[in-house]
Amino acid sequence: MYQKDLFKNKHVLVTGGRSGIGYAIAKQFLQLGASVTIASRKKDPLEKAVIELSAFGECNGYSCDIRNVEDIEILANHIKSEHRKLDILINNAGGQFPAPAELISTNGWSAVINNNLNGTFFVSQQMAKTFFIPQRNGTIINITANIFRGFPGMAHTGAARAGVENLTKTLSQEWAEYNIRINAIAPGTIASSGLDTYPAPLKKFFTQAQEENLMNRFGTVEDVANSVMFLSSPLSSYIGGVTLYVDGMEHLAGDRMGLYNVLKGFMK
Ligand SMILES: NC(=O)c1ccc[n+]([C@@H]2O[C@H](COP(=O)([O-])OP(=O)(O)OC[C@H]3O[C@@H](n4cnc5c(N)ncnc54)[C@H](OP(=O)(O)O)[C@@H]3O)[C@@H](O)[C@H]2O)c1
Repeated sequence: MYQKDLFKNKHVLVTGGRSGIGYAIAKQFLQLGASVTIASRKKDPLEKAVIELSAFGECNGYSCDIRNVEDIEILANHIKSEHRKLDILINNAGGQFPAPAELISTNGWSAVINNNLNGTFFVSQQMAKTFFIPQRNGTIINITANIFRGFPGMAHTGAARAGVENLTKTLSQEWAEYNIRINAIAPGTIASSGLDTYPAPLKKFFTQAQEENLMNRFGTVEDVANSVMFLSSPLSSYIGGVTLYVDGMEHLAGDRMGLYNVLKGFMK
């Protein structure tokens, strides 16, 4: 639907691009003419993804833990020496685990906040300092989650993603003077590799939640990638600081306490 050369001569960084939503985003950018760097922690799956994605265009990958500022600086230096510039950053890497709030350990809380809030900030800051501010140009898309009515059953990620939504508003205003445009996309429940990481007993809950969705389905990774293409392209050039919900209206309707109630049920 988009023009094939929409992102010609653009270089894109997709964190967490080796799997699921990030992989679909990287693939669409390649199909629309961009060159793409993907970055995540595990080397073997990263290399496999780079080989597969290279069928669609120029793709390379670097191992990087977004919780580690030294890793992020090294990543920026790699991109600078290989590509000289970065045009678009997609902060997609992240992860969390389901637990009632009273059972989240100090380490568990910190791990999710570090990954989903701090990681997004430090990658954005580094890429802005190395590329976007000197270039006076850049686009950032933060992938968050459906936190519209809170996130019972995953308090840590709800708090982290709310932080990212607020950061999206703040940074888009502060960095407007550098022509850096920043928006967020909040996926609802997306049928992706990320969903497979949840324990088997939760699968029944997911089936029920899928049936209850007003559009009668979970989202696809392509649903999210399509929206990323729009918010990264000149088609959205007058849009900044917003969070776009890509969730089949999950943020408006449905039982928000469902996950939490299932978790509490396990504890009885
Ligand atoms: N699927 C959904 O229903 C859904 C809904 C809302 C939001 N989200 C969010 O959307 C994003 C993508 O989700 P997904 O479903 O595609 O999940 P996924 O397949 O588990 O993808 C997560 C990716 O992030 C990378 N990653 C995680 N922690 C990292 C770190 N510290 N440093 C660098 N890379 C890291 C992982 O690679 P390594 O393990 O190799 O590092 C992996 O490639 C995540 O932030 C997720 O929480 C997903």
